Amino acid sequence: GSTLAAAAQESGRYFGTAIAAGKLGDSQYTTIANREFDMITAENEMKINATEPNRGQFNFTQGDRIYNWAVQNGKRVRGHTLAWHSQQPTWMEQTSGSSLRQAMIDHINGVMGHYRGKIYAWDVVNEAFADGNSGGRRDSNLQRTGNDWIEVAFRTARAADPAAKLCYNDYNIDNWSWAKTQGVYNMVRDFKQRGVPIDCVGLQSHFNSQSPYNSNYRTTIQSFAALGVDVQITELDIQGGSAQTYAAVVNDCLAVARCTGITVWGVRDSDSWLGANTSPLLFDTSGNKKAAYNSVLNALNAA
Ligand code: G3I
Repeated sequence: GSTLAAAAQESGRYFGTAIAAGKLGDSQYTTIANREFDMITAENEMKINATEPNRGQFNFTQGDRIYNWAVQNGKRVRGHTLAWHSQQPTWMEQTSGSSLRQAMIDHINGVMGHYRGKIYAWDVVNEAFADGNSGGRRDSNLQRTGNDWIEVAFRTARAADPAAKLCYNDYNIDNWSWAKTQGVYNMVRDFKQRGVPIDCVGLQSHFNSQSPYNSNYRTTIQSFAALGVDVQITELDIQGGSAQTYAAVVNDCLAVARCTGITVWGVRDSDSWLGANTSPLLFDTSGNKKAAYNSVLNALNAA
């Protein structure tokens, strides 16, 4: 294949990017995105603060702009994200207990209902585990509604849109030796054993000097897949932009049948949440293909 999407499709996978609605008027941006990627994630526009700014009052204007652009260009969409401690609207930040639990359920129903039958996979729950060595849950208003909040979210999601794959998505669960990875692994194993509906794990894969790529990444992907879930690399970026590391990530995904696709978290370096100076993506600020791009394309084509 001569593009990332075409090359990924040869092994039945997708290659995606995050898209910001505010950049859909930038023709260099949309030209690259349309040419190279076949799976789209809204960078911010389907989050809780965007879709339910006031309780019970949904707004899909920006989310729909991205959804419609994607579908009009023949692409599929990952939904991001329904239950998260961050980017909550003020009303939700100020809600707790059973009222918050109900608000979470209503939010999942409202957003998944709007996009029912249209989304490849939803990040139902995002970043619910703690950093560091505990391997346990992160403290948050959602966690304080009771430890079962995650499974309630997944059961609600399955009923709201049975066609969507339901993912748990997190960062720093890429390194198999980390406690956080093991904590998420144990939760997914428990969910599968008890029949809690979960279809996929999203490895965000934001690699940097504090949490660098480790060659045990393949073990992480294999181990989650062996539990009977798909693995998706959902927010890939690599500070410094090492072509070699990008190829290693792609090869690790290609080595596992249930690693179904890779999404990079932005198009050009200048589109990255990290800032262009860290050179984390596959296209430079002028829209040129970087060495990392060629390395990813070659790895996909060698599969
Ligand atoms: O749109 C407003 C603008 O009106 C306002 O003037 C400006 C001032 O702060 O903020 C703008 O919103 C910003 C938004 O990005 C859009 O650019 C927010 O402040 C800023 O916090 C937000 O950052 C996003 C971040 O999530 C928030 O948590 C990044 O774009 C987005 O890339 C990042 O994505 C997350 C994933 O969702 C989850 N995993 C980690 C990943 C990277 O942090």
